Amino acid sequence: MSGYDNTRKDSVLMSTLFEPSDPLAVDFIPLCIPEIRGNEWTYIKECLDTGWVSSVGSFVDRFEQEVANRIGVQHAVSTVNGTAALHIALLVAGIQPNDEVLVPTLTFIAPVNAIRYIGAWPVLIDAELNYWQIDTQKVIDFLEKECHWQNGELHNKASGRRVKAILPVHILGHPVNMKPLMEMARKYNLVIIEDATESLGAKYNGHSVGSLGDIACFSFNGNKIITTGGGGMIVTDNTDWARKAKYLTTQAKDDPVEFIHEEIGYNYRLTNIQAAMGCAQMELLDQYIVAKRRIASTYTEALKDLPGITPMDQAEWAHSIFWMYTILVDEVQYGMDSRALLRRLEAVQIQTRPLWQPVHCSPAHTGALIYRCEVAEHLNREALSLPCSVGLKPVDQKRVIEHIRIEAIQR
Ligand SMILES: Cc1ncc(COP(=O)(O)O)c(C=O)c1O
Repeated sequence: MSGYDNTRKDSVLMSTLFEPSDPLAVDFIPLCIPEIRGNEWTYIKECLDTGWVSSVGSFVDRFEQEVANRIGVQHAVSTVNGTAALHIALLVAGIQPNDEVLVPTLTFIAPVNAIRYIGAWPVLIDAELNYWQIDTQKVIDFLEKECHWQNGELHNKASGRRVKAILPVHILGHPVNMKPLMEMARKYNLVIIEDATESLGAKYNGHSVGSLGDIACFSFNGNKIITTGGGGMIVTDNTDWARKAKYLTTQAKDDPVEFIHEEIGYNYRLTNIQAAMGCAQMELLDQYIVAKRRIASTYTEALKDLPGITPMDQAEWAHSIFWMYTILVDEVQYGMDSRALLRRLEAVQIQTRPLWQPVHCSPAHTGALIYRCEVAEHLNREALSLPCSVGLKPVDQKRVIEHIRIEAIQR
């Protein structure tokens, strides 16, 4: 399992409280590491043996086709990472500088950064309390109450800017409630760009995330359910957008012989080696989802009766992949807050982490528009993600659970 040794070393350095005499503190349990146990070696060796190691090759085509088939869309375009995929998706969807894009405040920062890359503006929408996804009622309220229809376009009354897209992020492996967003998009001629980077394999009412909006993005970063080391994918049914995405991600070459470029492109290509790894990982995706869901139900069963702990939930519309299993810790009822629990677990070599700082609190996005962000900060204070690698051993998961329960008893 690559990545294990580095993570372990970093964590040992961080864990100044580690006491080797603690009988439970035998082995480091990382938060979420890759699972590499399939055809990765065979496929990557094929790249090495044939010399097809760089930005074109049969594995790139195959990986794109497999992801498109899996999601149930016509086209997939691979990229160097998920952030690049989001950047290009916004461009091909026609988002212009100064347009506004609705996006959740409770997300890893990448989609909000991508909106700024193209000179558009995020409108940060709160999370909802139950599943921690973008609050679709607040999206509706913003569009209905704060915007007006003018010359066939929706405009923000306060800023005067055009509102052009919604960028829902399916966080932590759980789908957003997409129906109200799709209705709003139809009503106001908005584009939906799904950030499905954390949720490959998740379903919304039986449909794969990534197939619900106009265009969607995935990430194959090392902590995702499948990984190519680093990598991303744009998926869409829109043939023109897919063609444009391929063009822009491959340096916008108009004449491959004479090197004619009519537009500024990007070198956002995935290599054949990375795609080879992706093909091998895709073969085991279903097994990985089963493992993630099993880990989640074990945590939920073991922690649901613990005062002050709220386990991660799944909506009735959702088939979650529980990419990052997360709990809420109520300081008063549990006896310590999430950060104190993080430090206690770190002291016994168990790696956990909080959710992201809500983007409306981030100095990087001072000046972003903020719409009624009341819940996200509370979730950020209470949330703690627990070890949930696909390969997490039952004995290790038991140890995590025991420590969380012991800490509660000791208060
Ligand atoms: C919600 C979200 N969007 C985008 C990204 C960016 O993906 P990448 O790291 O592959 O650039 C990530 C994670 O890494 C993410 O969690």
